[in-house]
Amino acid sequence: MCISYHASSKTFHLHNDSISYIMTILPNGQLGQLYFGKTIHDCDNFDHLVEMNHRPMTAYVFEGDKKFSLDHIKQEYPSYGTTDFRHPALEIVQPNGSRITNFTYVSHEITAGKPVLEGLPATYTEQDDEAQTLTIRLRDELIGAELELYYTLFAARPAIARSARFVNDGSLDLHLTTAMSLSVDLPDSAYEFIHFSGAWSRERHMKVRRLEAGIQSVESTRGTSSHNHNPFVILKRPETTEFSGEAIGFSLVYSGNFLAQAEVDSWGTTRITMGINPFQFDWKLEPGESFQTPEAVMVYSDSGLNAMSQTFHKLYQTRLARGYWRDRPRPILINNWEATYFNFDEEKLVSIAQAAKNDGVEMFVLDDGWFGERCNDFAGLGDWYPNTDRLANGIVGLADRIDSLGMKFGLWFEPEMVNEDSDLFRAHPDWRICTPGRCASHGRNQFVLDYSRKEVVDYIYEMMAKILTEAKVSYIKWDMNRCITEAFSASLPADRQGELFHRYILGVYQLYDRLTTNFPHVLFESCASGGGRFDPGLLYYAPQGWASDDSDAIERLKIQYGTSMCYPISSIGAHVSVVPNHQVFRITPLETRANVAHFGTFGYELDLNKLTEEEREMVREQIKFMKEYREIIQFGTFYRLISPFENNHFTAWMVVSEDKKTALVGYYKILNEVNGPYHRVKLCGLDPDMKYCVDGASCHYGDELMHLGLLTTDGAAGEPTPDDRKSTDFDSRIFVLHAE
Ligand code: DGJ
Repeated sequence: MCISYHASSKTFHLHNDSISYIMTILPNGQLGQLYFGKTIHDCDNFDHLVEMNHRPMTAYVFEGDKKFSLDHIKQEYPSYGTTDFRHPALEIVQPNGSRITNFTYVSHEITAGKPVLEGLPATYTEQDDEAQTLTIRLRDELIGAELELYYTLFAARPAIARSARFVNDGSLDLHLTTAMSLSVDLPDSAYEFIHFSGAWSRERHMKVRRLEAGIQSVESTRGTSSHNHNPFVILKRPETTEFSGEAIGFSLVYSGNFLAQAEVDSWGTTRITMGINPFQFDWKLEPGESFQTPEAVMVYSDSGLNAMSQTFHKLYQTRLARGYWRDRPRPILINNWEATYFNFDEEKLVSIAQAAKNDGVEMFVLDDGWFGERCNDFAGLGDWYPNTDRLANGIVGLADRIDSLGMKFGLWFEPEMVNEDSDLFRAHPDWRICTPGRCASHGRNQFVLDYSRKEVVDYIYEMMAKILTEAKVSYIKWDMNRCITEAFSASLPADRQGELFHRYILGVYQLYDRLTTNFPHVLFESCASGGGRFDPGLLYYAPQGWASDDSDAIERLKIQYGTSMCYPISSIGAHVSVVPNHQVFRITPLETRANVAHFGTFGYELDLNKLTEEEREMVREQIKFMKEYREIIQFGTFYRLISPFENNHFTAWMVVSEDKKTALVGYYKILNEVNGPYHRVKLCGLDPDMKYCVDGASCHYGDELMHLGLLTTDGAAGEPTPDDRKSTDFDSRIFVLHAE
């Protein structure tokens, strides 16, 4: 790995065994982008890549030099209005109303390792030789502002982490209205733009469309990263598949309003920008103040989408997630939400826990409804002390009983919210986010607390810390069930109201930081009405997240497939629930519900007492299976094989252990077919020379299984059942492969 600087040509080349990223200082002092892709030889000079060209109707920078126009020259962190007419990476409004800036190179430094981004989640290194960081300093002399661009190149990964920092060391009040984390100009536009969009219970559905001239983007304006779009996009070549071809993934380590945009200009250049959404953003930088953007991560693959995802998985699993639980297989849990909703008392909960314990479950999680006057969703949020009508012995007493069953205990919080009917709201009505004189819109009958205020974060911390100190709590499910409307903070002056959305997220990160620091053994699971805030920002604090409120196995195929494009299997919360399913009312076999949930953190979301003895026996087997294989499933190498977005018959994925001696193939049928073909699925990641026994029966070499495929048709009219039962819609099977 090396970051080199060629002084003679003023060129930076970040390169390791798999990627190269090349920039140059342009004749006007701004930074030019020359190349991002598969690694190429280093050279003293890459000036030939600067596209000097005279194009009619472009404006040019230097008198008489019609070829030097930012209109068509690829740039690194561009600004608008000085011959470039595309969307910029930055915009600063100055006291005279001007928005024109000109940041030119001052100096740079190359350091070992990776600096911490204060107050923000980010990837990290454990040893200095894991990465090098290039910091480039640029300055706009007229307004007295400095811009630092950070680039971290990871030694053994095709990945670069980027961010920017603005420092006002002049004497003017500046307003940052655009401060993106990343901007890259790619030389052509022969790409497909992939994004992960949807809605509540339909998160991260994969959408693919061809890039065209003009702008395509996804964004959030809701205060959270959102169910609707995820801060992750991919550019891939049209011919790229899961298994081959070029793809670049762009991921923002952030949980609030974001923008991910691809702009194709008139000459086919693609500009990707990603960062805090400039919409409604206005950050005042007084003299002496600085602003750090969130981090964005770019991953390059020349061998398909699976390889790109695997890079994200390993990076995020080992160098974004942190703490005690980072590398540990996750406990199998039972959650009472779909089993009871708000209708429970201590005895009912203990009976659910007891049955689960008997079947091998390791942790009981008490969901919403245990606190304040929370008998329904109209009251109680903000009052984080037990409702003793329901829980006579409080959380301490319940946690002790769960502990005496030999189980861990987990607890639900929604720390960012308040109901009007709560002691917290009665004491501090001004702590909710709302605009003076305007109506306060409802969302699930609740309001958002103003986390830009330190006293609010402190207050909630004290309540949560008290419970974590007094009761035996091993896990927290941190929920967030509405978007921010009427954004306004009573504690911010008029010219800082545009800071609220970002300050809110910083407050959320602060609370997470204090809790995870002071209670390091507690496992945090993030949640926002399911997967409304499933993003890398939260992965830094909570190594797993509830992927969706939709617990139907068939719906989950798409949700988990889409989620796996960026996020590791160890981060994907997935549970078995009852049928008919509560979201789509579908009836699926119990095996299939488990076979889908196995590819996640695994748990149950039902009352096992209500199952038949035969079903209980199946549950015991499922739990035994998960205990045996969870380490491989959650931390092995994951491959997507057949996409649920491309057909309505089959989905398949698999995971391979590090030593390649064990592999699990999840094979799912959606709609049955009549008299269909003899199906095979080509596997990935096996050792071609090892012989694998499939479910302890027939044995085949890895090369046969990868190139010819694993036979999934069992000969019966239907499939894929291992027994002689006729297979129907929604059947599934996990094939277990062991090397001989
Ligand atoms: C939304 C979550 O996604 C559910 O799992 C559950 O915790 C409810 N909130 C509780 O209100």
